[in-house]
Amino acid sequence: MITIKQITPIETYTLRLEVLKTNADYIYQYQGDFDEKTVHYGAFDADKNIGIITLMENENPLFQGKQMQLRGMAVATNAQNKGIGKTLVQKVIKISNAKEAKILWCNAREQVVDFYKKQGFQIEGERFYIEHVCYHYLMYKKL
Ligand SMILES: CC(C)(COP(=O)(O)OP(=O)(O)OC[C@H]1O[C@@H](n2cnc3c(N)ncnc32)[C@H](O)[C@@H]1OP(=O)(O)O)[C@@H](O)C(=O)NCCC(=O)NCCS
Repeated sequence: MITIKQITPIETYTLRLEVLKTNADYIYQYQGDFDEKTVHYGAFDADKNIGIITLMENENPLFQGKQMQLRGMAVATNAQNKGIGKTLVQKVIKISNAKEAKILWCNAREQVVDFYKKQGFQIEGERFYIEHVCYHYLMYKKL
């Protein structure tokens, strides 16, 4: 059985490096990781951390009202396509709703845009490049 629990920023680093790292210059420590309003969750199979997600109170000038940013979403390669990513997104939607946010947004890697669409997100604007990573789309979900 998969359980979701809050973890520390440092506990996200292993999967950020394993799953999200694209090259030697990938910055796996994010600005805001240690902010008191930032929360990190892990999906666990017994004691093994197989998924991570981070939620920050970051505002994007393109949106209005209270916003949350989803970041660092990753599921271990051998645990993908089993519903864990969806469960982690549902967790941060629940937390965002509890904080009365109106928008949940993220910078989505272009290869996972359809995953976010399935969770109710839509694209805003044009594709853009994030250095040391890949092309992204700004995506958001109204809460
Ligand atoms: C993207 C990611 C987090 C999805 O997590 P996951 O646990 O594999 O996804 P789920 O099993 O919860 O998938 C939920 C749905 O999205 C679909 N889906 C998953 N990954 C997808 C992808 N890359 N493209 C399109 N659809 C995808 C699944 O088929 C499933 O569809 P269904 O509801 O119709 O059955 C995971 O594949 C991952 O870590 N990828 C590499 C890192 C990455 O790119 N992270 C995102 C950075 S923005």
